[in-house]
Amino acid sequence: MTFEIVPEAEYTDRAVDFLAQRLRSRAKDQPYHMFLSGGSTPKAIYRGLAEAGLDWEQVHLWWGDERYVPHDHSDSNYRMVKEALLDRVEIPAHQLHPWPILAHPELSAETYDREFRSVFERGGQTLNLQLLGMGDDGHTASLFPSSPALEETQAMAVANFVSSAQEKTRLTLTFPALALSQEIVFLIKGENKAGPLQEVLEQGRHPASRVRGRESTVFFLDQAAAAKLKKP
Ligand code: 6PG
Repeated sequence: MTFEIVPEAEYTDRAVDFLAQRLRSRAKDQPYHMFLSGGSTPKAIYRGLAEAGLDWEQVHLWWGDERYVPHDHSDSNYRMVKEALLDRVEIPAHQLHPWPILAHPELSAETYDREFRSVFERGGQTLNLQLLGMGDDGHTASLFPSSPALEETQAMAVANFVSSAQEKTRLTLTFPALALSQEIVFLIKGENKAGPLQEVLEQGRHPASRVRGRESTVFFLDQAAAAKLKKP
């Protein structure tokens, strides 16, 4: 695990630089698969990536989780990314992999699971970068405490009913799917995350404590979120 801890005022710019560097240094002769996080923290970062003059050749964007709402719904993670990034850069549709919102959440999840496996299992491609956030309760993606998806050991993508969330029907990668990520970057800022982050990192509590990248796991934090950590 590595830590990048930056002043709040610099958080977005430093996170954009950090991720832009990853994208610029990718191998250009093969697809680069990046999973995006939802929520509010990353929106300004996605906007910054749109302005970073990046080339998106062979960059495939996926979503680590989604709310079971239409793509034009105000709670949709797809809509959030569309407004912050997709409407500002040219990325071919075949490089975009949003969750399909179908007749039933289970059907959406099964469809995404099939697409995920066709690329990362049968297709043998690399899940290069997984961006994740963390909620005040220590959830990540839509793997919420005490929710059924925490017990999933086979499926890569599931529907998850989350009684504690505003948008209760969620779609999420599972722990086995997240574990295929070569690199995981947690984007966490704000003093309200300091307590749960300390519980995740120093007590192994909450779903976010169960997620590590195959090669690296970076906690990209502002000073407020890192305030309760022993000097890492
Ligand atoms: C979602 C996210 C979720 C988010 C955390 C943190 O769909 O909401 O995937 O896991 O990352 O809730 O959200 P904030 O960045 O808004 O604190």
